[in-house]
Amino acid sequence: MKNRNYVPFITNSEVKIRIKDIAKEINKEYKHKIPVFIGVLNGAFIFMADLIREIKCDCEIDFYKLSSYGDKKISSGEITSLKQLDCDISGRDVIVVEDIIDSGLSIKYIKDDIKSRNPATLKIAALLYKEGVAKLDFDIDYIGFKIPNEFVIGYGLDYAQKYRNLKGIFVLKEV
Ligand code: IMP
Ligand code: MG
Repeated sequence: MKNRNYVPFITNSEVKIRIKDIAKEINKEYKHKIPVFIGVLNGAFIFMADLIREIKCDCEIDFYKLSSYGDKKISSGEITSLKQLDCDISGRDVIVVEDIIDSGLSIKYIKDDIKSRNPATLKIAALLYKEGVAKLDFDIDYIGFKIPNEFVIGYGLDYAQKYRNLKGIFVLKEV
């Protein structure tokens, strides 16, 4: 058997259960609204797909594409916008869907950008949140799992563009 350089961390069924919990909260809160879910590519595409299929109210979607990592495990600290929003979000109820919050630089950039477009409300859903890393002066409204400061892959998350197809979430061992 091939020697794997990653170890199991969160199973696909654990992720699905947690997503149902988050969706339940969102369904309650946005019952009479039509939120716009904004996924952050590439990492959040699977989380976004699973989350919105648990949403009961009418909703719309759009995507940002940012890049800050290149092929490294540590953020370059520089955010590049590779795709901006297509829809007009002024006056809309926006929910940003992120795969993971690490240094917090990406989510800060996104929050500032969205705020400048005058949405009615803005909330953030992150599947994973690395504890004790980001210093944010705002809350993350929906968090799937708080995790230690490890590099994780799978369920949409990559290392050097690979491993996004793994069903569960794994910790990458030293490469
Ligand atoms: P931040 O700007 O440092 O918070 O990082 C945000 C982005 O970097 C996330 O949306 C991910 O796409 C990527 N990222 C951060 N940590 C990890 C990780 O452990 N595995 C895979 N991607 C990560
Ligand atoms: Mg991301």
